[in-house]
Amino acid sequence: MSQNIQQNDSSLYGKQIILGITGGIAAYKSADLLRRLIKAGATVQVVMTKGAQAFLTPLTFQALSGLAVRTDLLDTESEAAMGHIELAKWADLVLIAPCSADFMAKLANGLADDLLSTLCLATDAPVAIAPAMNQQMYKTAVTQQNLLRLNQQQRLIWGPASGVQACGDQGPGRMEEPEILFARVAHQFKLTNTLQGINVLLTAGPTQEAIDPVRYIGNRSSGKMGYALAEALQEAGANVCLISGPVNLPSPVADCVKVQTADEMYQQVFARIAEQDIFIGCAAVADYKVKEIATQKIKKNDKQLALTLIKNPDIISEVATFENRPTLVVGFAAETENLLDNASAKLLRKNLDLICANDVGSLTTGFASDQNKILLLMRSSEEHIESEQLPLASKKELSKQIVNIIAQRYNQKKSK
Ligand code: C5P
Repeated sequence: MSQNIQQNDSSLYGKQIILGITGGIAAYKSADLLRRLIKAGATVQVVMTKGAQAFLTPLTFQALSGLAVRTDLLDTESEAAMGHIELAKWADLVLIAPCSADFMAKLANGLADDLLSTLCLATDAPVAIAPAMNQQMYKTAVTQQNLLRLNQQQRLIWGPASGVQACGDQGPGRMEEPEILFARVAHQFKLTNTLQGINVLLTAGPTQEAIDPVRYIGNRSSGKMGYALAEALQEAGANVCLISGPVNLPSPVADCVKVQTADEMYQQVFARIAEQDIFIGCAAVADYKVKEIATQKIKKNDKQLALTLIKNPDIISEVATFENRPTLVVGFAAETENLLDNASAKLLRKNLDLICANDVGSLTTGFASDQNKILLLMRSSEEHIESEQLPLASKKELSKQIVNIIAQRYNQKKSK
């Protein structure tokens, strides 16, 4: 699926869409719309009403989406796989195309007597409708009142178009063409994905803790993930400040401050933290530093050399508990075992909103690799954690997906 994705339009990649199909001849156009959404990297769950099935069979949409079409509210088999409330929560967008006059009336009045109308009530994702009906049915007063109510209820109304209708009439009521609806979907995600004008502070790379003037304690962080993130954040419109430990990479952003130690990183972060909307701790900060750094190079006279190490400040924990805390604090967890347990514990312990966990024990996803596989854990309430697995991809591609999710979470949190 991912081979078909246009590299410059990632707004639909990984998005989860419910495509609701109601009774109308325009349903045949929804097959084309579905194909476009899938090609752009979205996962689409098709839900058909009874009326829709009179025009097309679920099999058509199943073949295109790769997922069994849902048709019934209380179907035990599909409910066991994913309950309707779970499905409603799963969605990033619900698009009803075509949306019949009957379904508009249902939606406007909050009825929930079938799967699709129930999903519309149970979701907190945007619900968009693409009306399709005979021009007279569209113009009639009650339909217009329903439209007004739907508009007041913040439902997105896409179309209808005007022209010759399947029944031979002429006027408004044709469903928007699939390419127009597709563009609307992409635009909708771009709106929620955007970080235009948002201040983001990002740490990246390792830190180096001096032992003496020539030696240091370091780690294997290459900075690749953090630098790719800085680039993706900038592309999403954010004002990015990158605080970076020593790495061999050109900075993708103009505002880049180079530091060496955890203490320096801490100072640079806290000099700027008050103006930040989002903080992302991608740096592999050394947990300990040498208590007394030798002023001269240590000679190798003795068989043993004991260094006393003391704890470095935990930068991200302090950012997350700072009184003027950024809206979103995002951490990374590089683990070699028990990824899920360790990362969830870290998310809670450090008071983060989101954590990107990766297995650094593996050669394909480790520090120096250009690829990575990330398990995202997000705090949706005090104790509830949601997870999302981002499959193996280049660090650049993964960064775009992470930035999309960060943008969504940020915009959601801001709008609450
Ligand atoms: O505890 P651990 O080092 O595994 O946590 C990783 C996360 O905490 C990363 O987001 C890292 O940038 C951040 N961190 C920090 N300051 C430290 C240690 C880790 O900001 N001293």
